[in-house]
Amino acid sequence: MSDAQVVKLEFDPKNMPFRRLGLSGLRVPLFSLGGWLTLGGTVVGDPVKDIIKTAFDAGINMFDTAEAYAAGKSELEMGRVIKELGLRRTDLIITTKLFWGLRKGPNDGGLSRKHIIEGTQESLARLGLDYVDVIFAHRPDNTVPMEEVVRAFNYVIEKGWAFYWATSEWSAREIEEAYHVADKLGLIGPIAEQCQHNMFHRERPEQEYEPLYKKYGLGTTVWSPLASGLLTGKYNEGIPPNSRLATEPMFKSTVKSLQQDEGKEKIRKVRELTKLAHEELQTTPAALALAWLAKNPNTSTVILGATSPEQVTENLKALEVLPKLTDEILEKIERILGNKPAPPPTYGRPSLDRFGRL
Ligand SMILES: NC(=O)c1ccc[n+]([C@@H]2O[C@H](COP(=O)([O-])OP(=O)(O)OC[C@H]3O[C@@H](n4cnc5c(N)ncnc54)[C@H](OP(=O)(O)O)[C@@H]3O)[C@@H](O)[C@H]2O)c1
Repeated sequence: MSDAQVVKLEFDPKNMPFRRLGLSGLRVPLFSLGGWLTLGGTVVGDPVKDIIKTAFDAGINMFDTAEAYAAGKSELEMGRVIKELGLRRTDLIITTKLFWGLRKGPNDGGLSRKHIIEGTQESLARLGLDYVDVIFAHRPDNTVPMEEVVRAFNYVIEKGWAFYWATSEWSAREIEEAYHVADKLGLIGPIAEQCQHNMFHRERPEQEYEPLYKKYGLGTTVWSPLASGLLTGKYNEGIPPNSRLATEPMFKSTVKSLQQDEGKEKIRKVRELTKLAHEELQTTPAALALAWLAKNPNTSTVILGATSPEQVTENLKALEVLPKLTDEILEKIERILGNKPAPPPTYGRPSLDRFGRL
């Protein structure tokens, strides 16, 4: 059967809100799904299909991966499932990321023109797609001139291999440099930043990037929204077997920190958030933590991570919590967290947005 004859699953956005990704025209669902450690890693075969289908049926049409996730297997699994489920390409927003590469050669990673172009081609081959919607620079590469990086991503866009490019974990200075270099050359700059943002990780997205939202309309696709599961409350009584912290060696230091003052303090806060979620919002701490991120107007999409379809369904309860996040509830959350970053100083002058409005 040719591709054109395959019966396509119809996309129904259900009650999923869509936001523009930065100042671009691309509309992204408020919740998307990513594959780090999970799809192609701890989850392979039919369960990947079940997770993606559950997300798609619930209005999620945006899927995030990277060349490095599960050493390329995440892209392979995602590509296979998109085909097997018969998802229509135009319904989907697929994003991937380049930087770490899969081999150890001096040009197999980073952001040289060589790796950006070769890496894109290899990612597309693994995904079995002609293009991705957004291609991210997974980290900054200060060993490559910014002009080379900007020109290479523009070449990828010109070739039709990606519609937009974006950054991940770049400093505000680096993002701003990319904007200015692109502007000077009459080229396309990055449209968004994929940054870590959750109740325990706030400085960069809420303070450092603040001027970028105002000046350049920077969009964000936020990652580890549940702090790898900590904010679900699943680690309140220890480390459950088969959980991320039990199975992923890279979280050894996190596990250790949970026995120390800093970690114990986080668990104390999660317990308080759990009480607030149950008693005042009749929801779960996971849904509360995700809704809190979605409430932030600078969040374009919150990338969920899930090892089962049930987690996707539970986490999407955040959509029901969103309208319940009144100023009073937000204030209660701030009091529990006690970590709101200070806004940049304005020395008494009111801060205005890029259009000069309050
Ligand atoms: N750009 C970057 O540098 C970068 C870095 C990291 C991630 N990301 C992107 O962001 C996505 C999300 O990040 P993340 O996976 O770290 O997100 P996360 O939401 O912080 O953690 C997800 C993990 O928490 C657990 N979990 C999720 N929902 C749960 C629930 N309702 N109940 C119990 N446990 C639950 C699951 O792990 P277990 O079931 O195994 O415990 C799940 O895999 C990634 O897939 C990736 O696309 C990007």
